[in-house]
Formats: sequence, C-alpha cells, structure tokens
Amino acid sequence: MSNIILIGFMGSGKTSVGSQLAKKLAFQFKDTDRIIEDNCGRSIKSIFAREGEGFFRELETKTVKDLIDKAENHVISVGGGLPVQPGNGELLRQLGHVIYLKTSRDTIIKRLSGDTTRPLLSGDNPKEKVESMLKLREPLYEAAAHLTVITDDRKIGDIIEEIIRRTGVIQ
Ligand code: S3P
Repeated sequence: MSNIILIGFMGSGKTSVGSQLAKKLAFQFKDTDRIIEDNCGRSIKSIFAREGEGFFRELETKTVKDLIDKAENHVISVGGGLPVQPGNGELLRQLGHVIYLKTSRDTIIKRLSGDTTRPLLSGDNPKEKVESMLKLREPLYEAAAHLTVITDDRKIGDIIEEIIRRTGVIQ
C-alpha cells in the first residue's frame, strides 16, 4: 500500500501534517478539496452555495475513485465530511493506509474561530455545530481508519514521527 490518507474533522491539521509528511517521505501531496476547486475553477464555498452539498459530495467520491486509479506514493488529505458518506470509508482503505487525526472539540473550536471558508460552520452557533457533527462523525472516522493519532497540544514533527513509526512506511 503506497499511499497515506489523512482523515479527520475540519481543523484537525490534515493539510499541515500532510504537506510536511509528504516532504519528509519524498511523496507527492494532494488534498481533495484543492483537487475539486482546481477542477471546478471555484471555491468550495461557491460550489456549496450554487450547486449544494449533495453535488459536492458526489465530486468528493469521484475524486477518491480517480485517485485509486492513479495515485502511488502520495500523501492525501481529505475533506472532513468525505469519510462520512456511505461507501467512502471502504474506498479510502482501497486507496491507502488511512490515518485518523483525532482532535478534541475545544482544540477544533479554537483553531476554527473566525474561519469563513467552511460553509458547514457558517451562521449561528458554530460551537454547537462542531459539537453535534463531531459526535456523529467520530465513530465513522474510527471505523474508516487503520489507525488513530491524537493531535491535541502536539508539534507537527511529533505527529509525523508517530505516523511513520506506526505505519512502517520507512523501513
Ligand atoms: C467539510 C470539510 C472541509 C470541506 C467542506 C466540507 C466537512 O474540508 O471539504 O467545507 O463536511 O467537514 P476540511 O476538513 O479540509 O476543512
């Protein structure tokens, strides 16, 4: 299995950890949100606003299927809602070694405060939204992942070392 897939809630550090992990392994780094934005020529926010969440979720699944055909020696971070859609956990496990970056509610709220790019957290009561979405999603992240790595109060370098050690990606 040559790819490493990072899953987790918005703000769990998938992109920061993923890009540095890829550098360390001399792998290519990809992020499903960026692939979708590049293909559509528009932001996630605009896709949600114009075509709706259902359309975005179809694009996410199609993106994973394309990567299964093409990606080798990649680190891939995926949008926080992607592993939650039925069938996607199984597709991610076909794509590579799936790591869940687990982050507490309080850390997520701190990291995302003031964020305006994530449509699912816009509007009133973002804290309550994080709390209820996390409750629903955590068991699904755990079920999709081969292993779970806690990220709270840790340096990116430590998280990367744990991933390398536990996946055995460098022999
Ligand atoms: C979403 C997470 C976002 C992005 C979209 C929906 C979600 O990605 O895909 O806003 O449903 O959790 P990040 O997890 O990279 O923020």
